[in-house]
Amino acid sequence: MHTEISKVLFTAEQIAARVAELGAQITREYRGKPLTVAGVLCGGSVFCTDLIRKIDMPVTLMFIRASSYGDGTVSQGSVKIDFLGADFAGKHVLVAEDIIDTGYTMAAVKKELLARGALSVKLCCILDKPSRRKIETSADYIGFTIPDEFVVGYGLDYADMYRNLPYVGVVEIKED
Ligand code: IMP
Ligand code: MG
Repeated sequence: MHTEISKVLFTAEQIAARVAELGAQITREYRGKPLTVAGVLCGGSVFCTDLIRKIDMPVTLMFIRASSYGDGTVSQGSVKIDFLGADFAGKHVLVAEDIIDTGYTMAAVKKELLARGALSVKLCCILDKPSRRKIETSADYIGFTIPDEFVVGYGLDYADMYRNLPYVGVVEIKED
């Protein structure tokens, strides 16, 4: 068995242009409010670090880790969040994540941040797969909406590989 990229969905240039638009929109909407960006490890790390450089106002950067118990490709609704010692009480938090798929991860992250005293929580995902939603959740800022295909690159992985691809592509698992 091996994997290969069968199709490029978004090039590095297309992603950079969209991230710049999101950064400009976030800058307009948060102007005057102290903003804390919470990148979600590992998948959201690439998007998060690009995004903060397109936000033209002071931001505080923090990372959290979210993992779901599942088979590695499908979120099962049981999400474990590690706040890595960060304190979000009294903060306006913008979560930067790679993709919103079933919605379980983003719903749990938002709920936990509010439970920990965040003043406001908004979700920003570079990709959205709305057709796969299992729980009513939506991101406040979305880069691109995609069909139900398993994608990698720009932080997204398959079995911990491909996160470093500068583009987003569809990965296919092939029988040798
Ligand atoms: P959720 O299903 O919305 O909870 O998404 C949870 C996580 O599943 C995301 O943060 C990704 O790490 C992973 N995921 C969902 N769809 C894909 C995909 O197409 N490629 C790679 N990872 C994915
Ligand atoms: Mg993830």
